[in-house]
Amino acid sequence: MRVIILKNADEVAKWSAYQIAKKILKFNPTKEKPFVLGLPTGSTPLATYKELINLYNEKILSFENIVTFNMDEYVGLKPEDPQSYHYFMNENFFKYIDIKKENINILNGCAEDLEKECEDYENKIKAAGGIQLFLGGVGEDGHIAFNEPGSSLSSHTRDKDLTYDTILANSRFFDNDIEKVPKWALTIGVGTLMDSKEVMILANGYKKARAVYHGVEGGVNHLWTISALQLHRRAVLVIDEMAASDI
Ligand code: GLP
Repeated sequence: MRVIILKNADEVAKWSAYQIAKKILKFNPTKEKPFVLGLPTGSTPLATYKELINLYNEKILSFENIVTFNMDEYVGLKPEDPQSYHYFMNENFFKYIDIKKENINILNGCAEDLEKECEDYENKIKAAGGIQLFLGGVGEDGHIAFNEPGSSLSSHTRDKDLTYDTILANSRFFDNDIEKVPKWALTIGVGTLMDSKEVMILANGYKKARAVYHGVEGGVNHLWTISALQLHRRAVLVIDEMAASDI
């Protein structure tokens, strides 16, 4: 795993956005051969999304031939719920770019048959030719997507109970009320991420330092799911100096 340490969160956003743009431009996506991009939610990628929107506004980058797959979604939140990841993606990214609606894929946390929803999602990823690049963040406890500590490192898309730590950390988006945070989510698996051709994980701030330490210097283990990326051939961790303070 490559580790890129940059001065601050602003540089992390710029570096990641330019790398993503470079890869897309090099791939030269067409309608017949779209670029398949995996996307995260959370506060960390927000600045990267802003940079990508700037590149779109400057006409450097188009999303017309890009197919996206999001990492996860809470169970029980409707797409129009302001706390849902559907809503987040639209408000922070999709509504500003020229991506086609039919090219956006996000798990439906309100599907009647959640197992089938997850199975269909994996099949859709396969049918699209696999994920070219998966962008992600990391939780303070080292989780990627919603692959909480203890997740199987070969897992694929499925439902997952959220840990108390994650519920607490994410309660900031739910009026700081842990009762309002869904306790359950649908998420791609660690295996889904490992199947992607490239993975780029972003982390900023001292709160992520422990996860970065376990991801980079710890052994590969299911308690720190980010550590699985040590086994990925093309994974890059892009972090600021504070997140790098324990390595
Ligand atoms: C959630 C998401 C993860 C994200 C994590 C960290 O749990 N499911 O994909 O990486 O939060 O979020 P933040 O970037 O806000 O710290």
